Amino acid sequence: MRILSGIQPSGKLHLGNYFGMMRPALELAQQGEAFYFIADYHALTSVTDAAQLRENALDVALDFLACGLDPKRTVFYRQSDLPQVTELAWILACVTPMPMLENAVSYKDKIAQGLKPNVGLFTYPVLQAADILIVQGARVPVGRDQKQHIEITRDIAGTFNRLFGETFVLPEAVIRPDTAVLPGTDGRKMSKSYGNTIEIFGEEKATRKKIMSIVTDSQPVEAPKTNLDQNIPLQLLRALDPALAREQEMKLAAGGYGYGALKTVLADALLAHFAPMRARRAELQRNLDYVQQVLREGAERARVVADQTMRRVREVVGLR
Ligand code: ADP
Ligand code: TRP
Repeated sequence: MRILSGIQPSGKLHLGNYFGMMRPALELAQQGEAFYFIADYHALTSVTDAAQLRENALDVALDFLACGLDPKRTVFYRQSDLPQVTELAWILACVTPMPMLENAVSYKDKIAQGLKPNVGLFTYPVLQAADILIVQGARVPVGRDQKQHIEITRDIAGTFNRLFGETFVLPEAVIRPDTAVLPGTDGRKMSKSYGNTIEIFGEEKATRKKIMSIVTDSQPVEAPKTNLDQNIPLQLLRALDPALAREQEMKLAAGGYGYGALKTVLADALLAHFAPMRARRAELQRNLDYVQQVLREGAERARVVADQTMRRVREVVGLR
């Protein structure tokens, strides 16, 4: 079973990315042949500074390797080292109905936020379909916001198969219900575009400050707390350590225990969890040649599969 996922290098990775996508993806990679990549073509829809894009891409590589991606098992590469995906994206675009993209929620959201859409943003799901189909990814670990993009991929692949004969495996999203949408410090979905993130590898002081700033209701310290399902620090703690979260929940429900104490527990637990990965990241940072080599070798392995797919695709559509 082939597993595939990607993440855009469009800013510092945060706890939503980690619990929603990275940790499940790293676990799933134990069960099959995984292809994980840095979606730098996709990031071009929003990043227009070359140095920034390069820095972000390297950051994502360091983050993934630090968090435990094993480059011997998992094929790890930069999307732009696989230019075949852009060729496939064009061919897929020619069987993709316009209204399907016009109705894509993430596109509509961005426009609603006031973004002036470029054509790349509009066709973003087609490029994503190409990423998945070019390696015949069957399982795609992602957070809930990507569900529709995977459905679009299935639709495109299904149409292609009907028109040109069985060519593509129809992929399935793998979404963990418990961490599908992690809230940010303001209670909305944690997202780079909302400025409500807690970075995975932020400075300790900044991380603590962010955590202390998470919004909570105004029940006083002495009150036995109710409505804890909505409590954001608890939701984050549940993703990290369900047993510790339950223990905190009991203390809060009993009264005499406030949200400040809960946030301190959360900050300590998060910093302790990421400490070994932070150390590994610092080590990798001193060894960037190794990181570049991992990405080069990953691209070579991915290219073999991509070339196979493209030979078949060119054949069935009549380009050969
Ligand atoms: P952002 O919204 O910060 O720009 P991305 O769109 O780059 O994040 O998401 C990268 C991956 O992380 C995707 O698989 C996405 O579903 C997942 N993800 C992002 N934010 C969250 C979140 N708050 N909760 C769960 N998963 C998330
Ligand atoms: N759109 C995804 C995101 O914003 C990134 C991505 C690009 C992706 N191509 C993909 C995810 C293919 C899964 C499969 O997070």
